Amino acid sequence: MIREPKNKVVIIGTGYVGSTTAFTLMHSGLVSEMILIDKNKDKAEGEVMDLNHCLSFVKPMSIRVGNYSDCIDADIIIIAAGPSIKPGETRLDLADRNSKLIESIMKKITAYTYEPIIIIATNPVDILTYVAAKSVNYNKNKVIGSGTVLDSSRFRYLISKHCNIDTRNVHGYIIGEHGDSEVAVWSRTNIAGMNIDKYCERCNDTCGLKDKNRIFEEVRDAGYEILKRKDATYYGVSLAIRRITEAILRNENSILTVSSLLTGEYNLYDVSLSVPSIVNSNGIDKILEIPLSKRESELLKKSAKKLQDIIRKINY
Ligand code: 2OP
Repeated sequence: MIREPKNKVVIIGTGYVGSTTAFTLMHSGLVSEMILIDKNKDKAEGEVMDLNHCLSFVKPMSIRVGNYSDCIDADIIIIAAGPSIKPGETRLDLADRNSKLIESIMKKITAYTYEPIIIIATNPVDILTYVAAKSVNYNKNKVIGSGTVLDSSRFRYLISKHCNIDTRNVHGYIIGEHGDSEVAVWSRTNIAGMNIDKYCERCNDTCGLKDKNRIFEEVRDAGYEILKRKDATYYGVSLAIRRITEAILRNENSILTVSSLLTGEYNLYDVSLSVPSIVNSNGIDKILEIPLSKRESELLKKSAKKLQDIIRKINY
């Protein structure tokens, strides 16, 4: 199908994450047409009204309520539907319920679409990215989970606070599951090209393994800590989705720790999880195999095994 590029984004699910993503994308000036879909049409309508009242403050665009037929010419479809985790639950507690939901949404989308890029934000994001990738009969690189883009941002923020450096100058990745088995790639974490250990030596800092463990645990448990206090997390993930959307729509070749189906990278097969990947208008253009320490490789393998076990448990 040939058509003019117009940066059309469909957001499915207008709960906290979907509506904050819509707000964030509206601000970005990246999107010229945004469609909101929710099984609760009133909620979608309310969000659209609220967002439309901002249009005199942002770059021109159209925002409206739609249905699945609107997916036909969407550049990107963002899935943020389904219940999010409640305080006391883990992301994987939702696996069974939300995988059925994603399967049914994917059926409705693929009834209309050709080869859109799909971004999954619903948890457990790695399991649902796997389910979504299995439901499309086109390039799996176009099915992207928001994965650990948010966790990597949390990681950089906490290190930046520890080292008193601009967050944007801290480079590091969280890989694996977006959840309890995620892995911090300390061996590649750097500030100004200096490995983090070297950097801390330079500051005569006394930090060591204890501080690293504390930072990692804070990253890993950040979602739960926010949930305990405000019942939902949405600002971080919606900016992570905006960052992925930007990399796609602007063909940026950005390296982001998105979740995708692995086919032998890091010697892992048939599992979706996050590793640094080049994102551009093709979706995930290339999965990068960065050198990991022995311990990091083992932990990544363990994370993959945990996700594979869940996939089997829910019969995918
Ligand atoms: C987060 O990490 C709960 O997955 C959500 O903010």
